[in-house]
Amino acid sequence: VGRSGEQLVALLHRAGKALVSGEDLSEQLGVSRTAVWKQVAGLRSRGYLIEAVPGQGYRFLASPDNLSPGAITSGIATELVGREIVVYDQVGSTNTEAFRLAEGGAVEGTVVLADYQSGGKGRLGRSWESPAGVNIYCSIILRPPILPVNAPQLTFISSLAVCRAIEAVATLQPSIKWPNDIYVGGSKVAGLLNEMSAEMEKVNFIILGIGVNVNMTAEQFPEGLRHPATSLCIETGRPLARLLVIQSLLTALDDLYLQYRSEGADPILRQWEQRSLVHGRRVRVMYQDSSVQGVAVGIDGTGALLVMGDDGVVERVLAGDVALED
Ligand code: BTN
Repeated sequence: VGRSGEQLVALLHRAGKALVSGEDLSEQLGVSRTAVWKQVAGLRSRGYLIEAVPGQGYRFLASPDNLSPGAITSGIATELVGREIVVYDQVGSTNTEAFRLAEGGAVEGTVVLADYQSGGKGRLGRSWESPAGVNIYCSIILRPPILPVNAPQLTFISSLAVCRAIEAVATLQPSIKWPNDIYVGGSKVAGLLNEMSAEMEKVNFIILGIGVNVNMTAEQFPEGLRHPATSLCIETGRPLARLLVIQSLLTALDDLYLQYRSEGADPILRQWEQRSLVHGRRVRVMYQDSSVQGVAVGIDGTGALLVMGDDGVVERVLAGDVALED
């Protein structure tokens, strides 16, 4: 960071949540205001989260990497989710890593996080852009006593948890696009990928894979994405501490999973439908070479999308990409 960068961090840190004006900083550091701004830019590029309010000053939000198990658990009080937390600097895919740990007997509630994924996996065999230091890449091991056919219900838990976490840390109103894409203002901000190990009549474990674009910048998205994509930082106009996002996420997951275990899927499905972007809308769902058109009238207990065609016949759609037609 350099000596002057360190001094700047120290000054901002000392001010706590208060803004420090560029003028104050330049006086105390003995450099010009432009130099202060350059230092801030330099710190940001190293992953420091520093808010800049035009005409008012700067505020320290977080150091680059607070994503240690200790930092995460010190701020939350979950019962099950996060009992074990494993954090990697770099991994192929947190889902693959969590799968391996689960096969080795990892306890329910184990959370696997990575700063960077070299082979982040997306839905339907796609990849998930996973640059270092800016986003959340996380996989949670659950061992619910359910039949494999009910496993998609767990996706509703993770998509709801992501929505709650986003609302807790940012003043945004996320919604869910079936099956489990999280949207803010017309663009995708988070994606979920669940994987399962099961026998015919028993789930061994489920991996909830969650990717949230937190501080990713517009330039960091690859060209030619299927959906418009965004990050919490782009939407709110300020960087967010990943630590707060992950803490809120684990808290919400714990809460919803415990509710699911005690009350079943119904309350979860109802909350999910309230946030559904497709509910009551005309949609076209594409899967490989086929497509189904009609009005999205709901989801069933297994998570299938119910689409009513113009002939009034309701079709259950199990997988695919939804395009809104109105
Ligand atoms: C999608 O919308 O296509 C799903 C994206 C899922 C990404 C997350 S990031 C953490 C976990 N590990 C992965 O390899 N994928 C999921």
